[in-house]
Amino acid sequence: MRMYDLIVKKRNGGVLSTAEIDDMIRAYTAGQIPDYQMSAMMMAIYFRGMSPEETVALTMAMAHSGDMMDLSGIAGIKVDKHSTGGVGDKTSIALTPMVAACGVKIAKMSGRGLGHTGGTIDKLESFPGFTTGIDAERFVRQVNEIGVSIMGQTADIAPADKKLYALRDVTATVDNMSLIASSIMSKKLASGADAIVLDVKTGSGAFMKTEEDSFALAREMVTLGNMAGKKTIAVVSDMDQPLGRAVGNALEVREAVDTLRGEGPEDFAGLCRTLGTYMLIAGGAADSEQEAAGKLQAVVEDGSALRKLAEFVEAQGGDPKAVYDTSLLPQAGIVEEIGSVQEGYVTKIDCDEIGICSLLLGGGRETKESAVDLSVGLVLHKKVGDHVRTGEPLATVYANDRAKLEAARARFLKAYHLGDSPASSGPLIRGIVRE
Ligand code: URA
Repeated sequence: MRMYDLIVKKRNGGVLSTAEIDDMIRAYTAGQIPDYQMSAMMMAIYFRGMSPEETVALTMAMAHSGDMMDLSGIAGIKVDKHSTGGVGDKTSIALTPMVAACGVKIAKMSGRGLGHTGGTIDKLESFPGFTTGIDAERFVRQVNEIGVSIMGQTADIAPADKKLYALRDVTATVDNMSLIASSIMSKKLASGADAIVLDVKTGSGAFMKTEEDSFALAREMVTLGNMAGKKTIAVVSDMDQPLGRAVGNALEVREAVDTLRGEGPEDFAGLCRTLGTYMLIAGGAADSEQEAAGKLQAVVEDGSALRKLAEFVEAQGGDPKAVYDTSLLPQAGIVEEIGSVQEGYVTKIDCDEIGICSLLLGGGRETKESAVDLSVGLVLHKKVGDHVRTGEPLATVYANDRAKLEAARARFLKAYHLGDSPASSGPLIRGIVRE
């Protein structure tokens, strides 16, 4: 194989064979193809696209580029969940203990956040002492003992994707459907669960801005999962405005805890119920959507989901007291309200911009090396459709630095669009993709 020939073939709209893709990924992982050639290939794929067969080949080649996690030591069906990412998306923190409390085993690998969408690991580290840096043996033992564990993505899982994703991130080649689908699914396939529930976001705060693209991505990932023998289902959900009200690591954890107490925002609680329903069915704990919804409600009402979160936090070195007393989570030094400068109805919120406000406050990572301030962020008091009077708070901002707070405030006010008549947000759940 000559990388040059493959680049020419793809540039001219040709279809790469499975053998060519296998060789290319093997050589790139081994450091035998320079980044400049792989960048050219990514750009050629970006413009020319990939056939379904090429996407399958790329997914499999990346999944097998490192270790395949062996979860056979865990009895029963292991279920994983993955979100394509969004602003205020703290779903895993509430959902995994809910589902585990219903008896389904959750063995999940998560990543850190980069840019304005936070990562589950950063959020979980808001529990003092919590670590996801655990080895495979401890991961398996914990899932067997308490039914849930979340470990950090190790360097040995799909290393080709790790290298390629970093390259795509700096060469403007992230937002190609086949590349996103193969990137996400290669990691999911390598991490060993039997069933995968995907939350594919759609809207201004998501990779895929239109429903059409989001459903196409969902279908592509579901096909890849099912072809690899994993029971895979995708929920397409709204990301035209932040999910729930809290944006920022510890603030999101607090909202997840409130949700496990039955006191969370309706949109967030509803998404947890929908995703949880399909996780229970995939995990064999319910036969119907109605039965699953009933079980999920019961574990919130009887407190067992909250206790499961405390058990999970403690098993991974965190302080379980912070689950019952969220004042033990990191707290910001400055807490201020952002008042509306006019009266009206909220007609639109630029979702990405709210994520960027949290990033400006120090709550996200500009580069992989950035330190994250877990305490900062925003809690929104008004969402699309709500009425607001002049001076009434649109949000409370949590900061540790006045200059950063002022930068975030200015940006925040531009992200809220007000009009004279009530607007309605689209439905939270846009559809389910099964096959
Ligand atoms: N998340 C991933 O893991 N990969 C992508 O390509 C996009 C989002």
